[in-house]
Amino acid sequence: MKFIFITLFPELVEQACGHSILKRAADAGLLSVTCINPRDFTTDKHRTVDDTPCGGGVGMVLKPEPFSAAIAEAKKISPQGILIAFTPAGRTLCQSAVEKLAAKEQDIIFLCGHYEGFDERILAQADLKISIGDYVLTGGELPALVIMDAVSRFIPGVLGKAESAEDESFTASLLEYPQYTRPIDFSGAKVPDVLLSGNHAHIKRWRRKEAIRATYCLRPDLLAKADLLEGDGTLFLEILEELKGNEHE
Ligand code: ADE
Repeated sequence: MKFIFITLFPELVEQACGHSILKRAADAGLLSVTCINPRDFTTDKHRTVDDTPCGGGVGMVLKPEPFSAAIAEAKKISPQGILIAFTPAGRTLCQSAVEKLAAKEQDIIFLCGHYEGFDERILAQADLKISIGDYVLTGGELPALVIMDAVSRFIPGVLGKAESAEDESFTASLLEYPQYTRPIDFSGAKVPDVLLSGNHAHIKRWRRKEAIRATYCLRPDLLAKADLLEGDGTLFLEILEELKGNEHE
């Protein structure tokens, strides 16, 4: 899968992709990262990429010509690539949107602005407008990297066998159960006995129950859309009883 970043700050993107799982995946040829700098498509001496807003007002607006030329260059590399622009006004990213993008198996072209907004005629070219949350960032590079990271996990071979993408938080709309490793006793805080019992059925039940507990306590909104299994009701009742018990302590 090709990820093409239209960015005024290619070093930022290259740095971020040059480590850990994404780097390994790129080295293995499972994905590729290309940066296209709109500044390379300017024709004036100062390589200008922004200008004052028509109609007046503070701030600057990113000029259409260099970004349009950069998009055309990206489409040469990937004619079918999905063009994604970032704006706080876009659709908020969630795991199901990530999975839909991954399932398309199409290359992605990220249109990253910085500081200022895009000229509307550039935004109009985007296939998707995405926000990564209700807060304002200084540019589109970080949201683009967030999407690339989340989508890459679904590319076959990117995650090791042990780290299957489906087994994680959010895919089943439940948060993850707590994990422990050695030492068994860390400054008095002990690993739960059940995890040391060797009884796989008990461990599986405990993990499911703790995933439900974490979701109920921390993100109850997720429980409504969770894929609940037979037996989860019993676990949930146990959790409620335990929480009630804790209240009285
Ligand atoms: N650009 C500025 N803020 C943003 C956000 N929250 N998500 C995506 N792009 C943005």
